[in-house]
Amino acid sequence: MGVLLGYRLFQLLMLPLVGAAASAAAPLPGCRTRCGEVDVPYPFGIGPNCSREGFSLDCNTTTGGHEKLFVFNVEIVNISLPLGQARMLNAISWQCYNVSTNSIDYNTWSLNLINTPYRFSDDLNKFTVIGCDTLANIGDFESADSYQSGCVSTCHNEASLVNSSSCSGIGCCQTSIPKDLTYYEVWFDSNFNSSSIWNFSDCSYAVLLEANRFEFLTSYITTTQFRYNNDGTAPLVVDWAIGNETCEVAQRNKTSYACISEHSECLNSSNGPGYLCNCSRGYHGNPYVAHGCQDIDECSDNHRYPCHGICQNLPGSYKCFCPPGTYGDALNGTCTQQQKLQSSAKMAVGKESFFPP
Ligand SMILES: *[C@@H]1O[C@H](CO)[C@@H](O)[C@H](O)[C@H]1NC(C)=O
Ligand SMILES: *[C@@H]1O[C@H](CO)[C@@H](O)[C@H](O)[C@H]1NC(C)=O
Ligand SMILES: *[C@@H]1O[C@H](CO)[C@@H](O)[C@H](O)[C@H]1NC(C)=O
Ligand SMILES: *[C@@H]1O[C@H](CO)[C@@H](O)[C@H](O)[C@H]1NC(C)=O
Ligand SMILES: *[C@@H]1O[C@H](CO)[C@@H](O)[C@H](O)[C@H]1NC(C)=O
Ligand SMILES: *[C@@H]1O[C@H](CO)[C@@H](O)[C@H](O)[C@H]1NC(C)=O
Ligand SMILES: *[C@@H]1O[C@H](CO)[C@@H](O)[C@H](O)[C@H]1NC(C)=O
Ligand SMILES: *[C@@H]1O[C@H](CO)[C@@H](O)[C@H](O)[C@H]1NC(C)=O
Ligand SMILES: *[C@@H]1O[C@H](CO)[C@@H](O)[C@H](O)[C@H]1NC(C)=O
Ligand SMILES: *[C@@H]1O[C@H](CO)[C@@H](O)[C@H](O)[C@H]1NC(C)=O
Ligand SMILES: *[C@@H]1O[C@H](CO)[C@@H](O)[C@H](O)[C@H]1NC(C)=O
Ligand SMILES: *[C@@H]1O[C@H](CO)[C@@H](O)[C@H](O)[C@H]1NC(C)=O
Repeated sequence: MGVLLGYRLFQLLMLPLVGAAASAAAPLPGCRTRCGEVDVPYPFGIGPNCSREGFSLDCNTTTGGHEKLFVFNVEIVNISLPLGQARMLNAISWQCYNVSTNSIDYNTWSLNLINTPYRFSDDLNKFTVIGCDTLANIGDFESADSYQSGCVSTCHNEASLVNSSSCSGIGCCQTSIPKDLTYYEVWFDSNFNSSSIWNFSDCSYAVLLEANRFEFLTSYITTTQFRYNNDGTAPLVVDWAIGNETCEVAQRNKTSYACISEHSECLNSSNGPGYLCNCSRGYHGNPYVAHGCQDIDECSDNHRYPCHGICQNLPGSYKCFCPPGTYGDALNGTCTQQQKLQSSAKMAVGKESFFPP
């Protein structure tokens, strides 16, 4: 008879509800804006005095001597202000049949982002399970409307994997998650285990991960590659938002309203409560700091803002017109020479194309 080890639930984040710590309304001079390879733009910051409340991160030096960015004990590898997203490295839960002890070893993780600005992106992540006799569950029993889902992945032998190149139930399965999820835990169903197939697949894995960065390889079934390739983690996208109010409500309090740059606008979060700021069209930069949104010089980026005539940058837009002596549509590259008769009349005025913001 197999011996089932005790259910081990490793809490990734044990979050104290942050008290009313004094937090910067705007970053102080001298605050770092980069940690290792990762840009850390305000409202994020390294340390509470450099960030908006709730957006403080740690920049720690690892034993290898590299700097890494963390929220609590989860590494952050990417932050996007215009998308309101960040990319984290999420721990892979695993279950393995140990033939020498005839027991199931396992290690399952939970991730707790309750009372933080972060929530799992329902668009970009999928709960992903790899294995040949596996039923793994994902659930949230911390919120009022508890949630549970999961999927089954099977395959009878190595040969049955041959045609399995996508994650579609043979050796790998995926399931979507709901919006506004801030907590999840993983558990494996004990009625499914690899005791009968251990000679080609002794382990199975489950993790919430960024689906379009994941490709199922059949070697994930027969080797430990999936778990060990990236230190036991997989990329996860989180959406983040400011506060828990809509734009209209947040705008009433000028002290706490986050969209402080001119030429910025407010967007309700599309995943859970709160709002985001974005630079208005024709501007780019950081809407969360004073004068953060700067005019885009469209004329210096002919690839994204094509102009086949004379380009003139304007605040929030640009003009593109045909050079004197020619006529046509400069945006489409069809300026043509005026007829001699017309040009000698000195009446030629290039057609202007104007893009309002
Ligand atoms: C594996 O699953 C089978 C079928 O559900 C069960 O009979 C067996 O006890 C399990 N093995 C272990 C080691 O838990
Ligand atoms: C943050 O700023 C406050 C007030 O200026 C200061 O007392 C505190 O020591 C600072 N904390 C850190 C971690 O620098
Ligand atoms: C990073 O360093 C801070 C301060 O020393 C520490 O409190 C925190 O636990 C560290 N985080 C990780 C993930 O090592
Ligand atoms: C961060 O995102 C940018 C833009 O999507 C991408 O070019 C870059 O490779 C990403 N960096 C990491 C470490 O994922
Ligand atoms: C913010 O603006 C940029 C550029 O106009 C756009 O690509 C991006 O989708 C916007 N962000 C959101 C959350 O709508
Ligand atoms: C199986 O279990 C034994 C005893 O706990 C352990 O020493 C061994 O490393 C395990 N084997 C694997 C492949 O994990
Ligand atoms: C794999 O696909 C090929 C071609 O479609 C088919 O002939 C073969 O029987 C399939 N093998 C398995 C194990 O399903
Ligand atoms: C695994 O065991 C089965 C039955 O015991 C056998 O048919 C199969 O060839 C074995 N596979 C490997 C890779 O050893
Ligand atoms: C919104 O956030 C404020 C401040 O963090 C908190 O006091 C309040 O309870 C939150 N409201 C809801 C509905 O979560
Ligand atoms: C506005 O926000 C500030 C900073 O968060 C807070 O101290 C103040 O109580 C808020 N005012 C109102 C009227 O809610
Ligand atoms: C934000 O959401 C509220 C409530 O759903 C809505 O009334 C408001 O128009 C939205 N604001 C924006 C900027 O989308
Ligand atoms: C470019 O030319 C095409 C085809 O003549 C036309 O449909 C389109 O509106 C033009 N674009 C602009 C920006 O004028």
